[in-house]
Amino acid sequence: MTGVRPDGIDYRRIPRHVACVMDGNGRWATNRGLARTEGHRAGEEALFDAACGALELGISYFTVYAFSTENWRRPHEEVRFLLDVIADQLLTRRRDDLHRMGVRIQFIGRRDWRVPRWVVRRMDEAAALTAPNREMTLTVAFNYGGRAEIVDAVKAIVEEGIPARRIDDRTVRRHLYQPELPDPDLVIRTSGEFRVSNFLLWELAYSELVFTDVLWPDFRRSHLADAVREYQSRDRRYGNAGSRRDAIP
Ligand code: IPE
Ligand code: IPE
Ligand code: MG
Repeated sequence: MTGVRPDGIDYRRIPRHVACVMDGNGRWATNRGLARTEGHRAGEEALFDAACGALELGISYFTVYAFSTENWRRPHEEVRFLLDVIADQLLTRRRDDLHRMGVRIQFIGRRDWRVPRWVVRRMDEAAALTAPNREMTLTVAFNYGGRAEIVDAVKAIVEEGIPARRIDDRTVRRHLYQPELPDPDLVIRTSGEFRVSNFLLWELAYSELVFTDVLWPDFRRSHLADAVREYQSRDRRYGNAGSRRDAIP
Protein backbone atom coordinates (compact mmCIF):
# COMPACT_ATOMS: atom_id res chain seq x y z
CA MET A 1 0.00 0.00 0.00
CA THR A 2 1.27 3.44 -0.82
CA GLY A 3 0.52 6.65 1.04
CA VAL A 4 0.63 8.68 -2.17
CA ARG A 5 -2.78 10.18 -2.92
CA PRO A 6 -4.03 11.39 -6.34
CA ASP A 7 -2.64 14.83 -5.54
CA GLY A 8 0.84 13.27 -5.66
CA ILE A 9 1.55 13.84 -1.97
CA ASP A 10 2.70 11.03 0.30
CA TYR A 11 0.71 11.65 3.46
CA ARG A 12 3.02 9.39 5.48
CA ARG A 13 5.92 11.78 4.83
CA ILE A 14 4.44 15.18 5.49
CA PRO A 15 7.11 17.58 6.80
CA ARG A 16 6.52 18.14 10.48
CA HIS A 17 7.64 21.77 10.42
CA VAL A 18 7.34 24.10 7.41
CA ALA A 19 8.63 27.69 7.59
CA CYS A 20 8.03 30.50 5.05
CA VAL A 21 9.84 33.71 4.20
CA MET A 22 6.81 35.64 3.00
CA ASP A 23 8.49 37.93 0.48
CA GLY A 24 7.35 40.02 -2.48
CA ASN A 25 4.44 42.02 -1.05
CA GLY A 26 5.88 45.33 -2.22
CA ARG A 27 6.59 44.14 -5.77
CA TRP A 28 3.14 42.58 -6.02
CA ALA A 29 1.58 45.96 -5.21
CA THR A 30 3.93 47.98 -7.41
CA ASN A 31 3.19 45.67 -10.37
CA ARG A 32 -0.46 46.64 -9.96
CA GLY A 33 0.19 50.36 -9.57
CA LEU A 34 -0.78 50.17 -5.89
CA ALA A 35 0.94 51.40 -2.75
CA ARG A 36 3.31 48.84 -1.17
CA THR A 37 1.03 48.70 1.84
CA GLU A 38 -1.68 47.10 -0.31
CA GLY A 39 0.75 44.25 -0.84
CA HIS A 40 0.99 43.72 2.90
CA ARG A 41 -2.79 43.66 3.21
CA ALA A 42 -3.01 41.05 0.44
CA GLY A 43 -0.11 39.18 2.04
CA GLU A 44 -2.13 38.68 5.18
CA GLU A 45 -4.88 36.97 3.12
CA ALA A 46 -2.24 34.71 1.60
CA LEU A 47 -0.93 33.83 5.04
CA PHE A 48 -4.38 32.78 6.21
CA ASP A 49 -4.91 30.57 3.15
CA ALA A 50 -1.47 29.01 3.52
CA ALA A 51 -2.14 28.30 7.21
CA CYS A 52 -5.43 26.58 6.27
CA GLY A 53 -3.53 24.54 3.68
CA ALA A 54 -0.89 23.57 6.24
CA LEU A 55 -3.63 22.35 8.54
CA GLU A 56 -5.25 20.32 5.74
CA LEU A 57 -1.93 18.70 4.88
CA GLY A 58 -1.40 17.70 8.50
CA ILE A 59 1.66 19.89 9.05
CA SER A 60 2.20 20.20 12.82
CA TYR A 61 4.29 23.37 12.90
CA PHE A 62 3.92 26.24 10.46
CA THR A 63 6.23 29.23 10.92
CA VAL A 64 6.10 32.53 9.06
CA TYR A 65 8.57 35.40 8.87
CA ALA A 66 6.35 38.43 9.37
CA PHE A 67 8.81 41.16 10.38
CA SER A 68 12.58 41.07 10.64
CA THR A 69 14.92 42.95 12.96
CA GLU A 70 16.06 44.79 9.81
CA ASN A 71 12.57 45.77 8.61
CA TRP A 72 12.57 48.76 11.02
CA ARG A 73 14.78 50.42 8.38
CA ARG A 74 11.73 50.90 6.17
CA PRO A 75 9.79 54.18 6.00
CA HIS A 76 7.85 54.86 9.20
CA GLU A 77 4.45 54.67 7.43
CA GLU A 78 5.21 51.23 6.01
CA VAL A 79 6.40 49.93 9.39
CA ARG A 80 3.28 51.30 11.03
CA PHE A 81 1.08 49.64 8.40
CA LEU A 82 2.86 46.32 8.85
CA LEU A 83 2.33 46.48 12.62
CA ASP A 84 -1.36 47.20 12.01
CA VAL A 85 -1.72 44.28 9.60
CA ILE A 86 -0.02 41.90 12.02
CA ALA A 87 -1.70 43.12 15.20
CA ASP A 88 -5.16 44.09 13.89
CA GLN A 89 -5.73 41.63 11.07
CA LEU A 90 -3.78 38.53 11.99
CA LEU A 91 -3.81 38.70 15.78
CA THR A 92 -7.31 40.06 16.21
CA ARG A 93 -9.58 39.38 13.24
CA ARG A 94 -8.02 36.04 12.20
CA ARG A 95 -7.22 34.98 15.71
CA ASP A 96 -10.70 33.67 16.41
CA ASP A 97 -10.86 31.71 13.13
CA LEU A 98 -7.48 30.18 13.84
CA HIS A 99 -8.59 29.40 17.38
CA ARG A 100 -11.73 27.63 16.11
CA MET A 101 -9.52 25.59 13.79
CA GLY A 102 -7.46 24.43 16.76
CA VAL A 103 -4.36 26.47 15.89
CA ARG A 104 -1.99 27.53 18.65
CA ILE A 105 -0.33 30.89 17.97
CA GLN A 106 3.11 31.65 19.37
CA PHE A 107 5.93 34.05 18.62
CA ILE A 108 9.65 34.21 18.12
CA GLY A 109 11.57 37.47 18.11
CA ARG A 110 12.88 40.22 20.31
CA ARG A 111 10.57 42.18 22.52
CA ASP A 112 12.61 45.34 22.62
CA TRP A 113 11.66 49.00 22.99
CA ARG A 114 10.81 49.20 19.29
CA VAL A 115 7.76 46.98 19.62
CA PRO A 116 4.79 49.11 20.73
CA ARG A 117 3.03 47.97 23.91
CA TRP A 118 -0.32 47.55 22.16
CA VAL A 119 1.30 45.08 19.75
CA VAL A 120 2.84 43.14 22.67
CA ARG A 121 -0.60 43.03 24.28
CA ARG A 122 -2.21 41.57 21.12
CA MET A 123 0.56 39.01 20.88
CA ASP A 124 0.10 37.94 24.51
CA GLU A 125 -3.69 37.76 24.12
CA ALA A 126 -3.49 35.63 20.97
CA ALA A 127 -0.94 33.30 22.58
CA ALA A 128 -2.96 32.94 25.81
CA LEU A 129 -6.28 32.31 24.00
CA THR A 130 -4.86 29.65 21.70
CA ALA A 131 -2.37 28.05 24.10
CA PRO A 132 -4.35 24.80 24.64
CA ASN A 133 -4.82 24.16 20.88
CA ARG A 134 -3.08 21.15 19.40
CA GLU A 135 -4.09 20.84 15.71
CA MET A 136 -1.17 22.98 14.55
CA THR A 137 1.28 25.50 15.98
CA LEU A 138 1.55 28.73 13.99
CA THR A 139 4.74 30.52 14.98
CA VAL A 140 4.92 34.15 13.91
CA ALA A 141 8.48 35.47 13.64
CA PHE A 142 8.05 39.10 14.59
CA ASN A 143 10.96 41.49 15.18
CA TYR A 144 12.92 38.31 14.54
CA GLY A 145 16.52 37.93 13.45
CA GLY A 146 18.45 34.68 13.45
CA ARG A 147 21.58 36.45 14.67
CA ALA A 148 19.68 38.26 17.41
CA GLU A 149 18.26 34.90 18.52
CA ILE A 150 21.75 33.39 18.81
CA VAL A 151 23.09 36.51 20.57
CA ASP A 152 20.18 36.38 23.02
CA ALA A 153 20.82 32.69 23.67
CA VAL A 154 24.53 33.38 24.34
CA LYS A 155 23.62 36.18 26.73
CA ALA A 156 21.21 33.94 28.65
CA ILE A 157 23.80 31.16 28.89
CA VAL A 158 26.42 33.59 30.24
CA GLU A 159 23.94 35.11 32.69
CA GLU A 160 23.12 31.64 34.02
CA GLY A 161 26.82 31.10 34.63
CA ILE A 162 26.96 27.84 32.65
CA PRO A 163 30.65 26.85 32.36
CA ALA A 164 32.09 26.63 28.83
CA ARG A 165 32.90 22.91 29.11
CA ARG A 166 29.20 22.16 29.64
CA ILE A 167 27.94 24.08 26.61
CA ASP A 168 26.88 21.99 23.61
CA ASP A 169 24.19 22.09 20.88
CA ARG A 170 21.49 21.22 23.39
CA THR A 171 22.47 24.09 25.67
CA VAL A 172 22.07 26.58 22.82
CA ARG A 173 18.80 24.96 21.73
CA ARG A 174 17.37 25.29 25.25
CA HIS A 175 17.99 29.03 25.12
CA LEU A 176 16.36 29.77 21.76
CA TYR A 177 13.10 31.75 21.71
CA GLN A 178 10.89 28.63 21.50
CA PRO A 179 13.05 25.67 22.55
CA GLU A 180 10.25 23.16 21.91
CA LEU A 181 9.91 24.17 18.25
CA PRO A 182 11.53 21.42 16.14
CA ASP A 183 13.92 22.46 13.37
CA PRO A 184 12.10 23.18 10.10
CA ASP A 185 12.08 20.30 7.63
CA LEU A 186 11.17 22.61 4.78
CA VAL A 187 11.79 26.34 4.32
CA ILE A 188 10.00 28.12 1.47
CA ARG A 189 11.00 31.53 0.16
CA THR A 190 8.76 33.33 -2.30
CA SER A 191 9.42 36.13 -4.80
CA GLY A 192 12.40 34.64 -6.61
CA GLU A 193 15.04 35.73 -4.09
CA PHE A 194 17.67 33.13 -3.21
CA ARG A 195 18.64 34.16 0.27
CA VAL A 196 17.83 33.45 3.87
CA SER A 197 17.71 37.09 5.12
CA ASN A 198 18.49 36.25 8.76
CA PHE A 199 15.71 33.67 9.18
CA LEU A 200 16.15 30.73 11.61
CA LEU A 201 19.93 30.62 11.21
CA TRP A 202 20.49 28.03 13.93
CA GLU A 203 17.44 25.95 13.11
CA LEU A 204 17.76 25.57 9.35
CA ALA A 205 21.09 23.69 9.43
CA TYR A 206 19.53 20.67 7.65
CA SER A 207 16.29 22.10 6.30
CA GLU A 208 15.31 21.54 2.67
CA LEU A 209 15.02 24.89 0.90
CA VAL A 210 12.42 25.55 -1.79
CA PHE A 211 12.43 28.81 -3.74
CA THR A 212 9.52 29.96 -5.86
CA ASP A 213 8.96 32.97 -8.10
CA VAL A 214 5.41 33.40 -6.78
CA LEU A 215 5.04 36.72 -4.96
CA TRP A 216 3.74 36.16 -1.45
CA PRO A 217 0.29 37.80 -1.95
CA ASP A 218 -0.35 35.26 -4.76
CA PHE A 219 0.75 32.32 -2.59
CA ARG A 220 -2.06 29.85 -1.88
CA ARG A 221 -2.38 26.41 -0.34
CA SER A 222 -1.79 24.88 -3.79
CA HIS A 223 1.72 26.42 -3.81
CA LEU A 224 2.31 24.98 -0.37
CA ALA A 225 1.31 21.57 -1.71
CA ASP A 226 3.76 22.06 -4.63
CA ALA A 227 6.56 22.79 -2.16
CA VAL A 228 5.69 19.68 -0.12
CA ARG A 229 5.83 17.55 -3.31
CA GLU A 230 9.24 19.05 -4.08
CA TYR A 231 10.36 18.32 -0.51
CA GLN A 232 9.26 14.70 -0.86
CA SER A 233 11.46 14.28 -3.92
CA ARG A 234 14.57 15.26 -1.93
CA ASP A 235 17.01 12.86 -0.28
CA ARG A 236 17.84 14.14 3.19
CA ARG A 237 21.26 12.87 4.13
CA TYR A 238 22.30 14.77 7.29
CA GLY A 239 25.93 14.18 6.36
CA ASN A 240 25.43 10.46 5.71
CA ALA A 241 26.34 8.70 2.45
CA GLY A 242 22.71 8.73 1.26
CA SER A 243 19.99 6.23 0.55
CA ARG A 244 19.89 6.53 -3.24
CA ARG A 245 21.77 4.19 -5.49
CA ASP A 246 23.69 7.04 -7.09
CA ALA A 247 25.14 7.92 -3.68
CA ILE A 248 26.76 4.48 -3.29
CA PRO A 249 30.36 4.50 -4.60
C1 IPE B 1 7.56 40.91 2.49
O1 IPE B 1 7.38 41.68 1.36
C2 IPE B 1 6.98 41.57 3.73
C3 IPE B 1 7.98 41.95 4.70
C4 IPE B 1 9.27 41.90 4.54
C5 IPE B 1 7.50 42.46 5.96
P1 IPE B 1 8.31 42.92 1.02
O2 IPE B 1 7.70 44.14 1.62
O3 IPE B 1 9.71 42.67 1.39
O4 IPE B 1 8.14 42.98 -0.54
P2 IPE B 1 9.28 43.24 -1.62
O5 IPE B 1 10.36 42.23 -1.36
O6 IPE B 1 9.77 44.63 -1.42
O7 IPE B 1 8.61 43.03 -2.93
C1 IPE C 1 12.65 38.96 4.70
O1 IPE C 1 12.27 39.74 3.63
C2 IPE C 1 11.87 39.34 5.92
C3 IPE C 1 10.45 38.99 5.93
C4 IPE C 1 9.83 38.32 5.00
C5 IPE C 1 9.70 39.41 7.09
P1 IPE C 1 13.03 41.10 3.25
O2 IPE C 1 12.34 41.65 2.07
O3 IPE C 1 13.11 41.98 4.45
O4 IPE C 1 14.50 40.60 2.90
P2 IPE C 1 15.58 41.20 1.92
O5 IPE C 1 15.75 42.64 2.31
O6 IPE C 1 15.06 41.04 0.54
O7 IPE C 1 16.79 40.37 2.13
MG1 MG D 1 11.27 41.78 0.42
